[in-house]
Amino acid sequence: MAAKYLFSSCTKQLQQQQFRYFSQTQSLNRIENVMIIGSGLMGSGVAQSCATSGRFNSITLQDVSQEQLDKARKRIHQSLAKLKEQKRINIDDAEAVTNRITFNTQIKPVDDKNLLIIEAIPELMEAKQKLFKDLCEQFKSNDSIGKHVTCKERYGGLHFFNPVPLMKLVEIVRTENGTNDKTFEDLQQFVKDIEKVGVASKDTPGFIVNRLLVPYMQEAVRMLERGDATASDIDTAMKLGAGYPMGPFELMDFVGLDTNQFIVDAWQKRNDPNLTIYRSKTIDEMVKRGELGRKTGKGFYDYSQKK
Ligand SMILES: NC(=O)c1ccc[n+]([C@@H]2O[C@H](COP(=O)([O-])OP(=O)(O)OC[C@H]3O[C@@H](n4cnc5c(N)ncnc54)[C@H](O)[C@@H]3O)[C@@H](O)[C@H]2O)c1
Repeated sequence: MAAKYLFSSCTKQLQQQQFRYFSQTQSLNRIENVMIIGSGLMGSGVAQSCATSGRFNSITLQDVSQEQLDKARKRIHQSLAKLKEQKRINIDDAEAVTNRITFNTQIKPVDDKNLLIIEAIPELMEAKQKLFKDLCEQFKSNDSIGKHVTCKERYGGLHFFNPVPLMKLVEIVRTENGTNDKTFEDLQQFVKDIEKVGVASKDTPGFIVNRLLVPYMQEAVRMLERGDATASDIDTAMKLGAGYPMGPFELMDFVGLDTNQFIVDAWQKRNDPNLTIYRSKTIDEMVKRGELGRKTGKGFYDYSQKK
């Protein structure tokens, strides 16, 4: 049986990417093997969710850095052991579940039958484009139909949320004039297979969640800058008044202020009248000072004593 390949990107925005692939129009059937490229925060979380589900013949986690792969293995094992102890997942042995993942510095899936390839490398457009170009060359279909269609049909977006093993939502993104129905259905089934909930979104900035969350966070900063209320009072208000698990400032510290700034920059550059977004001097200055939130020990709150 000819191997069939399906590609997905873990990126925040798919639109500017130009992909040229060979493909085939046949249906993929159920995804049996997964390869994740990039073993950082998101990639390792996706690999962990796939391993926990126990539904795949093989899971390959690839990274250019062996050090990152070693860190990913350790992180996945620790997370599985903790979730098992808290009875949040039903597994017998964290080590056995971790061993379902093959860690590799080469782009070499254990098995390439009905393979889904998920890209989770840093948000650098050129690196992502090059990766997909290389993938397409390496995984082109050996079916002759493949010569006549482009790989865009087999390409869609899966937007996971951090921390992946705990967050149930995945936005499944259909690219314009790209993702075909069969690919979209296969991605929906994959999301169910890893016991998450999928929602469909067009390929628009921020998809659903960030399109609402980012302006909300920027508006909170504007309130702070005007002196309407303190960060702590705004957080308390949104937690107790709107039932949010975190207030906007806690959330920004969790996500990282550099990430927040990256999204705002990208949206502003689009010059889209439907996408007005406030650019905050406060955040620019904090990023310049290296106050990026939890990861640097200081953001809107101080975390230096909390480790
Ligand atoms: N962090 C989040 O909260 C979050 C949420 C949703 C989506 N995302 C998106 O997911 C993607 C990954 O983010 P992350 O936070 O996991 O990043 P990360 O920096 O934690 O990990 C990226 C990994 O990719 C590896 N890498 C870099 N270039 C590579 C290449 N060419 N081939 C293979 N591996 C390569 C790096 O060594 C690193 O281990 C980004 O596009 C990001 O925007 C992140």
